[in-house]
Amino acid sequence: MRIGVLGTGRMADALGTQWARAGHDLFIGGRSRPKAQALAARIGHGARAGSLREAAGFGEVTLLAVAYEGVEATLEAAGAAEGTLSGRALIDCTNAIVPGRFTLATDGGPGMAERIAARAVGARVVKGFCHCADAVWRMTPPVFADGPLAVPLCGDDEEALEAVRALVRDMGCVPLDGGGLERARLLESTVAFLLGFWFGGMEPRAALPPLAAQSPA
Ligand SMILES: NC(=O)c1ccc[n+]([C@@H]2O[C@H](COP(=O)([O-])OP(=O)(O)OC[C@H]3O[C@@H](n4cnc5c(N)ncnc54)[C@H](OP(=O)(O)O)[C@@H]3O)[C@@H](O)[C@H]2O)c1
Repeated sequence: MRIGVLGTGRMADALGTQWARAGHDLFIGGRSRPKAQALAARIGHGARAGSLREAAGFGEVTLLAVAYEGVEATLEAAGAAEGTLSGRALIDCTNAIVPGRFTLATDGGPGMAERIAARAVGARVVKGFCHCADAVWRMTPPVFADGPLAVPLCGDDEEALEAVRALVRDMGCVPLDGGGLERARLLESTVAFLLGFWFGGMEPRAALPPLAAQSPA
C-alpha cells in the first residue's frame, strides 16, 4: 500500500516504522522538511520525505499524526480544502486532550475526527490508533498475556475501513469495529478517560469484564 504520513513526531515514527517493515511504501510529510527527511532515513525501507502537500497526494491511505492544535494548519498546508486527500483513507490518531485534566478540548462541539472530515474535502476518515501510547505501537508485535492488542476503528467508508484493518493486522493487532464516524467522539472520550487512569498510575483493565460475563444467560 502507498501510505502518506502527515507529521514527523512519535506516532508518525512508531506507526510508519511498523508499516514500512510490513512492506508498505511510505512518504513522510512535515512542516519541517529536514525533520521529515530525518524520520524517513530512520525508518528506512525506502521511505521518502517531503512537504505535507506531497504526502497528502501520495497514498491510498494517509496518516494524520500531529498535535491537535496543529491539525487545522496541517490540513491547510496539505491542501485538504482543495481536495488533495479526496478519495483517500485518512487515519485520524489525534487526541485533543487538555493536559493534566484529561478532558477533551473539543467538549461541547464535534469531535476531532468529525472536524477533520469537515475540513478534508472528500477524505474517507477513519479514527483509530489513538488509544495507546507510541511505546505500545512500537512493540513487535503488540501482544499481551490475553492476546494481541485490539484496535477500535470508527469510520463510514467500508473500503477505507478495510484498508486500515489490513494495516492493523500487519502490525500483529486485531481490528475492532467501533461503528461509524459519529461514534468516533466516544472513542476520543474513552481515550481521555483511560489516560486519566494510566497517567495516575492506575490499572483500568480490571474494569472491563470478559464478554461472556456481560451477555445475558
Ligand atoms: N505519542 C503518543 O503516545 C500518542 C498516542 C496516541 C495518539 N497520539 C496523538 O497523535 C498525535 C501526534 O502525537 P505525537 O506523539 O506523534 O506528537 P509529537 O511527537 O509531539 O509530534 C507532534 C507533531 O505535530 C506537529 N505539530 C505540533 N504542533 C503543531 C502546530 N501548531 N502546527 C502544525 N504542526 C504541529 C509537529 O511538527 P514539528 O515537529 O514540526 O513541530 C510534529 O510533527 C497527537 O494528536 C497525539 O495526541 C499520541
